[in-house]
Amino acid sequence: MALLSVRDLVVRFRTHDGTVYAVNGVSYDVEEGETLGLVGESGCGKSVTNLAVMQLLPRPAGRIEGGEVRFEDIDLTRASEAQMRDLRGRDIAMIFQDPMTSLNPVLTIEEQMVETIQAHRAVTRREARERAIELLRMVGIPNPELRLGSFPHHFSGGMRQRVMIAMALALEPKLLIADEPTTALDVTIQAQVLELLQRLTTERGTAVVLITHDLGVVAGMTGRINVMYAGFVVETAPTPELFAHPRHPYTVGLLHSIPRLDSPEGEPLIPIEGTPPDLRRAPVGCPFAPRCAWRLPACWETGPSLEPLEAGATIRTTGPQATHRVSCWNPATAEEAVAGAPLRDGFVAAPPPGGSGGRGAGPVAEEGERVVFTADADEAAALPGAHGLPEPPATTEPWR
Ligand SMILES: Nc1ncnc2c1ncn2[C@@H]1O[C@H](COP(=O)(O)OP(=O)(O)OP(=O)(O)O)[C@@H](O)[C@H]1O
Ligand code: SF4
Ligand SMILES: [Mg+2]
Repeated sequence: MALLSVRDLVVRFRTHDGTVYAVNGVSYDVEEGETLGLVGESGCGKSVTNLAVMQLLPRPAGRIEGGEVRFEDIDLTRASEAQMRDLRGRDIAMIFQDPMTSLNPVLTIEEQMVETIQAHRAVTRREARERAIELLRMVGIPNPELRLGSFPHHFSGGMRQRVMIAMALALEPKLLIADEPTTALDVTIQAQVLELLQRLTTERGTAVVLITHDLGVVAGMTGRINVMYAGFVVETAPTPELFAHPRHPYTVGLLHSIPRLDSPEGEPLIPIEGTPPDLRRAPVGCPFAPRCAWRLPACWETGPSLEPLEAGATIRTTGPQATHRVSCWNPATAEEAVAGAPLRDGFVAAPPPGGSGGRGAGPVAEEGERVVFTADADEAAALPGAHGLPEPPATTEPWR
């Protein structure tokens, strides 16, 4: 049984402005010792999915409106607040995207860390303090004995992030959810923190869900990746497989939009044209349709589900042999993924029904026009190797 099992999770925000369809039926599993990366553009539901797992959605607007979240044998959506308080920290910890939201501004770092450790472990105050010092040292805080007496506002953003990481590690949770844990850190500290997270999974079997915009970080750190778009998981695969053989047009676009070390100097990146859909509108059809060069008429009407590439294949949801699944009516072929455009003769992206722009603000193909991730279709089709997909990660050995 997986350590964490999320099934058909639906999260909505009911606001004065209307309903926000933030998470629209997301399912995934995480095993002990596994590191799962969660990537996707800003606003696609990465943080909300994980706040829902932690039962920390901002109330009353944010609610789980469907699905199940199981941690070991507990359904977290039905757990009492007392049960959740006990689980949070001891078994599941989260490093939040904004460290100030989870540090108490009127308590010193010592008070907060010692209190957290003592709330979950039978240790003396002195032992808890020593553990706090050790952890602060591990995350690269200089003079931790002295810094313990500081208040959160005495620290820079990057230092606060490290304190948060130390607090999350304090209890050696079974599952650590790290939401953009290194964004505020400089590269040296970033490397230290990532190494620390890596050690946790290999030495202690901690499962890690790593949310990040940085595809370089997920390439090096994770065994498996979920790509999210507009509140859906649109593609999932072991990390080397996803980098080598992306199939969803959005993943193809994402991989074309990051720099490569071997690109010729001055080589422009290929952005994904258009913007994500407004989540205040109920999803109809595939959410990527307004931006997609591969779309078929059905894409405007019916949303695809996440399915294995080979119909009828046995589905494995975790580990290095996890089944590559994609939510798409017309996935990119290997050659198309490299070119960043459909290459089939005469293929034209289906225009929107009634000729309107659909739900998103992206480019829309006119009859006879091909939509690609570059300005020019022929240019995309002719892209030589160096302009194609980024190399798969150097390590073909994922952690698990
Ligand atoms: N408190 C809230 N009230 C209303 N809508 C919200 C609230 N919090 C998040 N949302 C909406 O839910 C959607 C998903 O947001 P989420 O924070 O999960 O995005 P994200 O993928 O984490 O983005 P980022 O990469 O910028 O952190 C967005 O459309 C966002 O506007
Ligand atoms: S081909 Fe269709 S289903 Fe696939 S991503 Fe494009 S619009 Fe969505
Ligand atoms: Mg976020």
